[in-house]
Amino acid sequence: MTTKGIILAGGSGTRLHPLTAAFSKQLQPVYDKPMIYYPLSTLMMAGIREVLIISTPQDTPIFERLLGDGSRFGISLSYAVQDQPRGIADAFRVGQAFIGASPVCLILGDNVFYGKLDFLRNALTSNSGATIFGYPVTDPQRYGVVELDAAGRIVSIEEKPAEPRSNLAIPGLYVYSNDVVEIAASLTPGRRGELEITDVHREYMQRNNLHVQPLGRGIAWLDTGTPESLLDASTFIHAIEKRQGLKIGCLEEVALHQGFLSQDAFRECVRKLPHSDYRSYCESLVVM
Ligand code: G1P
Repeated sequence: MTTKGIILAGGSGTRLHPLTAAFSKQLQPVYDKPMIYYPLSTLMMAGIREVLIISTPQDTPIFERLLGDGSRFGISLSYAVQDQPRGIADAFRVGQAFIGASPVCLILGDNVFYGKLDFLRNALTSNSGATIFGYPVTDPQRYGVVELDAAGRIVSIEEKPAEPRSNLAIPGLYVYSNDVVEIAASLTPGRRGELEITDVHREYMQRNNLHVQPLGRGIAWLDTGTPESLLDASTFIHAIEKRQGLKIGCLEEVALHQGFLSQDAFRECVRKLPHSDYRSYCESLVVM
């Protein structure tokens, strides 16, 4: 069964105040695009064409205005409201009807990846249970942290530990079997009063069905949680785009590449874009 995608774009984003006073973090610019373009392009590049976007009551209509039903990218987008910030694992409750009997890939709307996505494509085809990733960072205490033994087996998994037992942070990109719906339904809120994604992973671990794929060099996983890291992410995207003349996270381009849009459908979509550098870039990709 094909994997469905969920982008969780809720939360209050208070650490970015006043940027986030009027609209959500995942709508903020990362250089030349709204942040959510990047996680959506990640799912699309992994071949996922059915995506649910979950956000707050105030922001969901804005995401809908931004991205529509997805048809202009050759995908299907639907929307659901999370009326309270009840935690990441709540996505599987809110998204239960959307998920149905499918496996699901969840990406957090503020997670920006750059690099070859074979690790994700492989996880989607080979996953049984849950597959999560481990990414070395200098500030693991800010994230979910996984500890592996010398043989690569999971020793511990903790959410934002004061004293991290490893430098492997768990990015907000997860691949699950359909069991996640039942696991999320049985969770109770943790210390922060939220349904913790780490508790979902602990349950898969108990079932001997949690897999950690370490990511190393060659993949950039960018943080966007503070004003400084948001600027760094913009600078990173800008540097690569300027150097190569290729855009990162251009949804129209990804749709064309993936064969989600025919060349004709792509041309038609581009003709509807307002005149801008973004449109000129899209125009340069085909003979208009
Ligand atoms: C969440 C998760 C954490 C994960 C992080 C990735 O943290 O709880 O495990 O490492 O996303 O972005 P939050 O962004 O809610 O602080």
